[in-house]
Amino acid sequence: MTTLLVTTSPVFGSVGRLPQFIADHGWELVRCADPKLPDGGMGEYVERMDFLVVGLIAATADIINKAKHLKAILKHGVGVDNIDIPAATARKIPVLNSPGANANAVAELALGSMISLARHIPMSHKTLLEGTWKREMGSEIEGKTLGIVGFGNIGKLLAKKAQLLGMAVLACDLFPDKAYAAAHNVEIVSMDDLLRCSDYVSLHIFGGKENTNFINAEKLALMKPAACIMNLARGEILDLDALAAALDKGAIRGAAIDAYVVEPPDFAHPIFSSPNVMFTPHTGGDTSESVERVGMINVTDIESLLAGKRPPRILNPEIYA
Ligand SMILES: NC(=O)c1ccc[n+]([C@@H]2O[C@H](COP(=O)([O-])OP(=O)(O)OC[C@H]3O[C@@H](n4cnc5c(N)ncnc54)[C@H](O)[C@@H]3O)[C@@H](O)[C@H]2O)c1
Repeated sequence: MTTLLVTTSPVFGSVGRLPQFIADHGWELVRCADPKLPDGGMGEYVERMDFLVVGLIAATADIINKAKHLKAILKHGVGVDNIDIPAATARKIPVLNSPGANANAVAELALGSMISLARHIPMSHKTLLEGTWKREMGSEIEGKTLGIVGFGNIGKLLAKKAQLLGMAVLACDLFPDKAYAAAHNVEIVSMDDLLRCSDYVSLHIFGGKENTNFINAEKLALMKPAACIMNLARGEILDLDALAAALDKGAIRGAAIDAYVVEPPDFAHPIFSSPNVMFTPHTGGDTSESVERVGMINVTDIESLLAGKRPPRILNPEIYA
């Protein structure tokens, strides 16, 4: 029987060595990534799928329980908040992700977003296309302070890139890697001090219940009026009502948003009328290099599992107990 890979990622398997690797192994790949459908269109394939490669559409308990042949769930990326891991564990199905493989892509977009906000690039582009010749005075990022919330794979790469451009870097984390920070001239501070002292704040923590509304009105009120905040992590960690209100009253200067609670988001939300916000459609990890790196980890894990091996990075190792 042909091994069936179902993916809810719009890009898994599409670039670099991936199409040939999948063809060489004789696997069938079905893409179910329609954002208008809650399950992306997985329904008709669930019963016979062998592997599920998850993008931004959730692997719910319902899907997992219906998938009688499911051998593993693999995240095409790092954030596993949309995989019901307890449901997978109950069925002894391993769950794997690919930590770090898309970190550089996200760090580069964060850097690009910061320069875009400093120089009003998206806003100037828009006004020029509307027929208005308006030269905005920008500012330089050299000499400014970047505060990184979540000093993991993405946070560390972003710190390095920002320092190369002459920025000072502060960071906070639940479990800060103090040795790495000391070796790389990054100052670990409290969350509140980071918000008070940074010119740019970049969020790189994971989502989920524990981090919902992590940045709320109270936290935004700590920021400098000229500061900007960037959320390239998960929609729920930044309260968009509070952000729109803070921008409206000039409590902060600007924002960049890549991730939303519901994707695509409700464009009637006031945030979409705020003048100093740039939006991207959850494209943080979407570079051809990153998609190839992440995908190769996924298919290599699938190959190992089919060969009866236990790949590293299994997030629910207790299934083997
Ligand atoms: N925009 C995109 O396309 C895209 C792509 C990849 C990852 N992401 C998001 O970025 C997040 C970070 O990715 P990563 O690879 O750096 O993950 P990582 O696990 O290496 O780092 C996350 C860090 O956040 C810290 N953290 C979590 N909650 C915290 C809290 N409340 N306070 C302080 N620190 C906290 C953790 O201790 C960890 O060090 C992912 O979880 C994912 O949600 C987005």
